[in-house]
Order: sequence, then C-alpha cells, then structure tokens
Amino acid sequence: MTHIHVAGEIHVDPAARAPHWLSVPDDVNALLPKLWSRNVDKSADGVLEVAGLDVDRIAAAVGTPAYVVDAADLKARAREFAEAFAGWQVYYAGKSFLCTAVARWVVAEGLGVDVCSGGELAVALRAGVDSALIGLHGNNKSEEELRTGLAAGVGRIIVDSFDEIGRLQRLARYLEVRPRVMVRVTTGVEAHTHEFIATAHEDQKFGFSIAGGQAAEALRACHESDVLDLIGIHSHIGSQIFDTEGFEVAARRTLRLAADFSARCGVALPELDLGGGFGIAYTSSDTPATPAALAGAMRAIVDGECAALGIAVPHLSIEPGRAISGPSTFALYRVGTVKKVLLDGGSSRLYVAVDGGMSDNIRTALYGAEYSATLASRRSDAPPVLSRVVGKHCEGGDILVRDEFLPADIAPGDLLAVPAAGAYSHSMASNYNHVPRPPVVGVEDAEITTLVRRETIDDLLALDVG
Ligand SMILES: Cc1ncc(COP(=O)(O)O)c(C=O)c1O
Repeated sequence: MTHIHVAGEIHVDPAARAPHWLSVPDDVNALLPKLWSRNVDKSADGVLEVAGLDVDRIAAAVGTPAYVVDAADLKARAREFAEAFAGWQVYYAGKSFLCTAVARWVVAEGLGVDVCSGGELAVALRAGVDSALIGLHGNNKSEEELRTGLAAGVGRIIVDSFDEIGRLQRLARYLEVRPRVMVRVTTGVEAHTHEFIATAHEDQKFGFSIAGGQAAEALRACHESDVLDLIGIHSHIGSQIFDTEGFEVAARRTLRLAADFSARCGVALPELDLGGGFGIAYTSSDTPATPAALAGAMRAIVDGECAALGIAVPHLSIEPGRAISGPSTFALYRVGTVKKVLLDGGSSRLYVAVDGGMSDNIRTALYGAEYSATLASRRSDAPPVLSRVVGKHCEGGDILVRDEFLPADIAPGDLLAVPAAGAYSHSMASNYNHVPRPPVVGVEDAEITTLVRRETIDDLLALDVG
C-alpha cells in the first residue's frame, strides 16, 4: 500500500526520510506526555514505570510482548466521559477492547457497554453488566446473536438492515418480547480520517441512508411493527475524529429526520445516539479534545438544532471506545534484532525488530496508522536515529511503528514501549504465523493483575483437531 507520509527530499541528516510531522527530539529519552497514560513516567535512569512499577519487573513477571493497562487511567477516562456528558448515557464501545474486568470498570463509572457480536455480548454478560445497559450492534447479526440478545433483554438493539428488521420481528414474536430498537443511519458525513474507518458516507456497508430515503423507511417499518419498540436514531460517523464539525452535520441531519418522522407519524423519537470516534494522540501531531470540550460543543450543537427545528431535545447517548481504552495502555516488546538499512541518497533507517508484530497490532499494516515508541529499559546518550519498529512475522508489511527516532545504540535485549496501544490492538489481534496472542495486564498501586492471559502454543494446538 502507498503510505501518505512518505518523506520529502532525501538528505543525509537524521531527519532525512522522516515524515513532515516528526522532528528530531532534543532528548530521545523524554516522554511526550500526551502520548502516555497519566501514571506513566521514566525514572532518572530512563526506565519506564507505570503506577509505581517499572517495565523490567513487568516483563519479568508476565513476559513480552504484553499489553500493559494503566488501570486507574482507564477508569478515570471513563469517569471523565460520564461526568462531562452528565445527563447523556455513555456506552463504552467494547470493540475497542473488551474483557470482563474492563466491562466492570466502565460500568462502575456509570457507563453502559456497546457490543457488536455474540462474543462481545458474552463477555459483557459474564462481567455481570446489567443487560439494560447493553447496546447490541452489528451490520449482519446472526439469528443466534439476536436470539441471545433478546433472551438477555439487552437495553437496545441497533438495527442495520431491512433483513435484520424482519428477522428481529420474527424472533421477538417467537420469544414474546418487545425489544427497544434504534435505527442506524448514514448521514453522508465523511469523517476526516482514513477511508476504511470513516463510516457515515454513503458507499459503505453500515446503516440506512438518510439521503436515499431508506432511513425514513426503516423508521416507519419499526414504528409500524407490533413487536418492536422504536426508541430512536443512531449515527456513527467514523473514528479518530478531532473536531466536532462532523458531529454538527450528523446531528443536524439526524434531528431533521427525527422531526420529519414525528410530523409524519405523530410520535416523537425519544432517543438519539451520536456514536463514538473521538480521536486520541498516537503521535506528536495528534491533538485530541478533552471530554469536557467535546461535551460542551456537542450539547450546544444539539440544543441549537432542536431549537431551530422546534422539537424537544431527545435523550442523548454516545459510544466512545478508543478515547477510553486507547491511551491507557502501552504495548511492551523486547528487541530481538537491529539492522541498519542503507537508503538511496546516503541516508539510512534502523530496523528494530521486536518479539510481536502485526498479529498483536494490525492497524499500521491494515490502514497506515501511525504510532510512536520509546526505549523503555534504560537511558541512552546515543544520538536519535530514524527507526522503524517491525515485528517477527513473515510479511514485509509487518510494521508496528513506521517512523520514530530511537537512540542509535538500541540493541537486542532492550525493552521498547509503544503508547496508545489499548484500542483495536488486542481486539484485532490474530494468530498469524501461529504466534500466540500476548496477555493484557492491568497495573494499579504497583500491583499487576492479569486481565487476559497469554495464549500458549498448546492453546493453538488444542484447536487443531484434524
Ligand atoms: C457504531 C460504533 N460506535 C462506536 C464506535 C467506537 O469508535 P471509537 O473507538 O473510535 O470511539 C465504533 C467504532 O467503529 C462504531 O462502529
């Protein structure tokens, strides 16, 4: 794939081949605070610490690679969303990362949980999440997933196709239940992000189009159903969004749809969900908004639109995932090999290969996501050199961090940490090359708790029953 941040001119200086947003650091050991969770720091000798525990001890206890969650930080992010959006319901998007502990943590902070498969639903239920606080998503929910959701009594099912509306009605009649449903719509807003993760423009698989009229039709079908309880409209415009302009257009279009519906059908839709997608800092070039700033802007948008349309403000909800799970976690790797690769024009790049790779974080290979990294196990006085952190897989595109300045003396045995690795890393992990998935460990008050244990080769072999 072509990467959009390829270097400009080739010079034989440390920044040759660096993307425009990456500058040579004054101190290669320093942490950029916005990339790290709040309980992470480095000791005077350069060792990364989280919640009072240094990475040497974490690596000794659980091995590498590992996802290390700053537990208090994740809880605080959930709390900040709940507080900033008080009066709205905040659902944590479990697809970003879900395990029973995290489900319990976010619920304890007042959040609900949004799931998008039978597997995620099973985790939320096993965590003891009140089913009324669970939202069930998915563009192709199976009959079994719908049946499980209905039997559990999930608080809302977000319907995504006419096929699903039919299937859901049939199951609801059979089970004699009356599910609360929201209609997922596409607003035509294309979030300012990578094409593959912008979901509200028209040419994609999610939702019913407002512009095409299917959204109004789906609302009518749910409203006229004898077994569905239509509660509102759902819109998710994409991910890694940094400003509220996209939400403004989405709110305007969904509220107009709600107003039209109520004028036509004589009933108001009580709820509106504006989805997730709030951006986080993966690199120095990302500047995320705080939940308080987002909440202020989004409240003003909704209030203004409702006043203009002359309708009551519905009960609102949002579904942040990455903004809660992402920044709280770093991935910890052990460096295995280091190679200096000469590039044309006399510059070079250091290839730093670690003991994980695209199987524990596919985002760089999948859609060119950018990450940062730091030498985590010691201080270095060596100069910064342009480096690429790669994995151990048999694939040239097995890149974890495309561009970063690391100390020139980085060597096998060093620990390397990649911040903002909590969202869509473990949840999108695979067993490519039969590499077992790393564990997820929480650290709080200098204590390690294993949240998801490391897979073993035996786990993988146990699946091979042929
Ligand atoms: C419907 C829906 N809600 C919420 C989210 C969470 O997005 P993010 O993790 O970027 O906040 C997603 C992500 O794909 C989504 O599809």
